[in-house]
Order: sequence, then structure tokens, then C-alpha cells
Amino acid sequence: MTRREQIAALIHEEMAGLPNELADPAEGHPLVIVPYGAEEVLGALDALISTRVTMGEKVRAFEAEWSAYCGRSQGVMVNSGSSAVLLMLAAMVELGRLSPGDEVLCPAVTWSTSLFPIAQCGLVPVMVDVDPRTLCIDPASAKAATGPRTKAVLAVHLLGQPADMRAFDGLLVLEDACGAHGAVYEGRRVGGVGAAGAFSFFFSHHITTIEGGMIVTDDGDLADALRSLRAHGWVRERTDKRDWAERCPQIDPRFLFVSAGYNLRPTELAGAFGLVQARRLPAWLARRRQNHADWCAALDGLVDVFPEAPGTEHAGFAFPMIVNGDRASLMAHLEAHKIETRPISGSNLARQPAFERVPGARAPVALPVADRVHEQGLFVGNHHAFGPGHGARLRDVVSAWRG
Ligand SMILES: Cc1ncc(COP(=O)(O)O)c(C=O)c1O
Repeated sequence: MTRREQIAALIHEEMAGLPNELADPAEGHPLVIVPYGAEEVLGALDALISTRVTMGEKVRAFEAEWSAYCGRSQGVMVNSGSSAVLLMLAAMVELGRLSPGDEVLCPAVTWSTSLFPIAQCGLVPVMVDVDPRTLCIDPASAKAATGPRTKAVLAVHLLGQPADMRAFDGLLVLEDACGAHGAVYEGRRVGGVGAAGAFSFFFSHHITTIEGGMIVTDDGDLADALRSLRAHGWVRERTDKRDWAERCPQIDPRFLFVSAGYNLRPTELAGAFGLVQARRLPAWLARRRQNHADWCAALDGLVDVFPEAPGTEHAGFAFPMIVNGDRASLMAHLEAHKIETRPISGSNLARQPAFERVPGARAPVALPVADRVHEQGLFVGNHHAFGPGHGARLRDVVSAWRG
């Protein structure tokens, strides 16, 4: 055995069973499970031992794999899903597809960093209500909030449920697919439906690079803008870098800056994780989807549940419920039975204190469904390590609470 093989054997032994082991429902129902094993650690270790740790081949390979999975020709990896949303919007502004002051529709129920980047890019977030069947943006509410300055919509595929994308004619459609890896909308994987889509690979998501994110698109100009905005505004990774160098002969082409960029780069360790995790996704997704369908059937009638919408494939990121009763008492009862709970994403973001600090943000239409989510909504974990036993236990515990 070579030394490398010995190290690999030790790490496999140390992490035996992870990350595919089925959890025992009696041990509890956590929000997050350990989502990686020896293969990911060995991939990251390979980067560390080689000393090629900053963004390079592994990131590029993962970009190619993930974008192809989403049916897209271009992928630009970044250090988080929040960065992916920010960069997607910033690139649209840089290319002049959106202009400062343009309004962007955003569902009121989503994660905080779906909303904040809109204003960070000089755009105006307009909050609209969510659909009571899907918890994603409600097309009727979006229509009511649309005015002459409305130019784009951020369609968030919340908790694995694809948003209804039919009603946004004339608007630039951007997808926040940070929690919907592998979900399908009318035959296309999410992230592959609008002009571009953003993903998160945070520790608790379908697949993880610990922290990480990616924008996928078919638009080569957008990808070039994303690549320079991601890395200090540098020209280096753009496909048109030679044209730029010819246009600016007085500047060293290795240090030619063409965008007012950020540094949002991932490391090779994240790329290594992504490559292993992407291969695991199909089996994991099948388990999550099955859990979602089974648990919806098991809990139906006890709480409001959110089954897969027609024409879509739900990716089962967490299991949301709305309680017709005292949410705090149900949460306490679940926690007492080792079923961890939390509110649904940021709930109604227009009611969070930070909303007042988001320049220009407004909520011009009523948000009754978002308010209901805010007051009565919760979610519990859904993972590839869970199965029918977790659904049966969840049903029994909720039933006992109802009495
Ligand atoms: C819908 C949505 N958008 C954006 C994000 C931000 O992703 P990250 O945590 O990787 O920054 C999340 C995180 O869960 C999310 O659910």
C-alpha cells in the first residue's frame, strides 16, 4: 500500500457509514445531518497535498458538471448562494440589462439574501405575496405589483418547490434555486428556465461544498461579466480577454481590470467536494422526493402540507407545514420529541427589522399568505438519511399534539 492509500484507508475507516447511512427515527429528527464522507475529504485533501488550493481545475470541472446537470452551457462558482444571487444581479446591471432604480419583484417569503442583493445592486425590491399551494411567488400578486418601472422578477423555488413561471411575460426572469437542486419545472431543471439561476451549496443543502454557490446560464456575455465580477474585476477568466488586452496596450494584461468587481471566489477544496457530491445527488434526490410525497400523505388533515404542484418535480428541501392552531405549542411538542423545528425561511421578510434598512424596498400589495407563513408556519428536516419511519413518527407526534 502506498502512503496515500494508507491515508485513504484510515479516512474511510474513520468516516465509515457516512454520508449514506439511514438514520434511526427513534434517535430524533434533526434539521441538519452530516452530509459528506471519506470521498469528499480525500478530494479536498488531494487539493491540499497538491498545494493547488485556490480556484482552479476542480472548480472548473464542477462548474462544467453542475451547469450541464441544469441543462446550461455556463457555470460560475462562487463562495455562497448569497454571493450567487448578488453576482447574478450585479452582472445584469453591468451589462445594462437592468438599470439602477429598476424594480425587481421578490416573493415576501424567502431567505434574507434573496432580497438584500437586489438593493445592494441599486435595484428596487418590490415584495409580493406567495401562492398558498406552493409557498412560491404568487403570479396574481406579482401582476398586481407590476408597474412601469418593473423590469425583473426573482423567482425563488422555495424549499425544493418550483415556482410557477408562466406569468412573467416581458420581465427578465432570474431564478433563486438555492434550495431546489434537481427540481423540475415543465420538463426543465430549475436554474435552466430563466435567464440565469443561482444555487447554494451550504452545509445543509441537497449537496454541499461546505459554503459555496453557482450561477448557471446559457448566456456567454453574462458568464464573462460574472467571471470578472467574481474575481476583483479581473479580465483573466473572460473569453474576450485578448480583445481587452488589444484595446488597452498600455496595461499589463495580467493586471487588467474591466469590472467594478468583488472577490467571491471559491477554493479548490469546495470544487473537490462539489465533484463528489454531484455524483451522489440522484439517489439522494429520489429519497427526498419519496419522503416529501409520503409525509404529505401522512400529515394531510393534521396540518397544511405542500404537495408537488402539477407539471413539476419537487426537490424536497425540508418539510414545511402550516398549523391551524398554536404554532409555539406544536413546536415545543415536536422539540420535546427530538424533532427539530424552525420558521419557514425568513418568513415574511417585509416584517423583519432589516426590511427598513433595505434602500427603496417596498411592499405595495397585501401579503396575507406571507403573514400566515410568518405566524403559523414551520419546517422540519427532510434528508436523504430519512425514510418512511421518520414520516410515521412525525405523524404520530403531530397527532398526539392535536389530541
Ligand atoms: C432561497 C435561498 N436563497 C439564498 C440562500 C443563501 O445561500 P447561502 O446560505 O449559501 O448564502 C438560501 C440559503 O439557504 C436560500 O434558501
